[in-house]
Amino acid sequence: MSQTLQAVRGMNDILPDEAETWDVFEEIVRSWLRSYGYRPMRMPLVEPTPLFKRAIGEVTDIVEKEMYSFVDSLNGDELTLRPEGTASCVRAVIQHKMLHAGPQRLYYHGPMYRHERPQKGRYRQFHQIGVEALGLAGPDIDAELILMGARLWDDLAIDDVRLELNSLGSADERARHRGALVDYLQAHHDGLDEDGRRRLHSNPLRILDTKNPELQSLVEAAPKLIDFLGEASMAHFEAVQQVLKDAGIPFAINPRLVRGLDYYNRTVFEWVTDSLGAQGTVCAGGRYDGLVEQLGGKPAPAAGFAIGVERVLALWRASGETTERMVPDAYLVHVGDAAGRLAFRVAEDLRACGFDVLMHCGGGSFKSQMKKADGSGAELALLIGEDEAAAGEVSLKPLRGGEQQRISADRLADVLMDRLLQVEEDDGGI
Ligand code: HAM
Repeated sequence: MSQTLQAVRGMNDILPDEAETWDVFEEIVRSWLRSYGYRPMRMPLVEPTPLFKRAIGEVTDIVEKEMYSFVDSLNGDELTLRPEGTASCVRAVIQHKMLHAGPQRLYYHGPMYRHERPQKGRYRQFHQIGVEALGLAGPDIDAELILMGARLWDDLAIDDVRLELNSLGSADERARHRGALVDYLQAHHDGLDEDGRRRLHSNPLRILDTKNPELQSLVEAAPKLIDFLGEASMAHFEAVQQVLKDAGIPFAINPRLVRGLDYYNRTVFEWVTDSLGAQGTVCAGGRYDGLVEQLGGKPAPAAGFAIGVERVLALWRASGETTERMVPDAYLVHVGDAAGRLAFRVAEDLRACGFDVLMHCGGGSFKSQMKKADGSGAELALLIGEDEAAAGEVSLKPLRGGEQQRISADRLADVLMDRLLQVEEDDGGI
């Protein structure tokens, strides 16, 4: 026997019980996005490799070590499985001249790929819901993006998340801070680890993001970017904070929040939880005013964030999410050729009226089919035997108590509607 094949490490199958929760979650998310005026976008999973190098930055973990890049053997193109969606979204917005029509509020969702070391909450294929607002420069949109996060946690009844905020200022301000930082780090050269020394000149800001516990006190005492912000950046940052205060959203300013991608400026934020272990950032983003121009478009401001779907779902589950398993309204049991033909007609008629019908396939006795009907969770079994088929009728058997009744196939939809309404009323649903 040949060996069974397994999914690629860090890439997960999402089986029906869990996938049903994803479906419910995605419906909640879509309605949440609609309520803020965001419109859907779908970009390819594969993009030219230079797109990510330019957008995310050459000296970042993602570009240096995590991208699934390959050469298309048919034409030599350098391609990459997208590690995130912002670069693709901006590429598409430029390519289709979407900003000519004015500012755009857009969202996308789907798988992203990063060759990280898999662990709980960290996967090589993971899913994001990305939200991007392009063409809007003010602090109002930054604040709105953050309020959106708070609203979603509320919609999902998740309360174990907190907001961290920082400002990365402008390119000039970062350059001045970088100068001071490099001076400081050089003075502490011996205290740096190998990664830190390598990044000292290529990307010193990223050293502040180190996970190495031995560097924490050194990093703690380093010059802080916030002290280098000019008046305009400071006013922008304060305006964002004012909206959050007015809305009663608590936040903490974290001067060490620098994000792992190079395109950010001014406001950056992360929603973090302590209940998921080490991978606690469930949603992250910020402003990226330079990216449209950097990717060849006319300069345009932009801001956005992405939600890590696996992490939010884990948190939702931990907060007591109870998505009910989807069950059909009726299970259709049929024995005999004529019954089989009537069953097809009945099932299609009912579906056309909006009912969910699971039609038994694969034959078997009444008894064995009834067992399946019971196991399906449906309220009702619809039975068609030779007698019923000859009379053009269906026997309707409630599976959780109640009288069996026989009715004409043509009246079935009306009767079913009444019965299911009755069940919902009894359950206190209506
Ligand atoms: P990011 O911080 O790289 O930002 O990713 C956003 C979120 O995706 C993270 O906070 C986390 O929840 C989730 N995530 C990232 N990597 C993994 C992984 N390996 N496994 C599971 N979840 C993961 C971005 O990607 C930006 N494009 C966000 C953005 C949009 N900024 C502006 N617009």
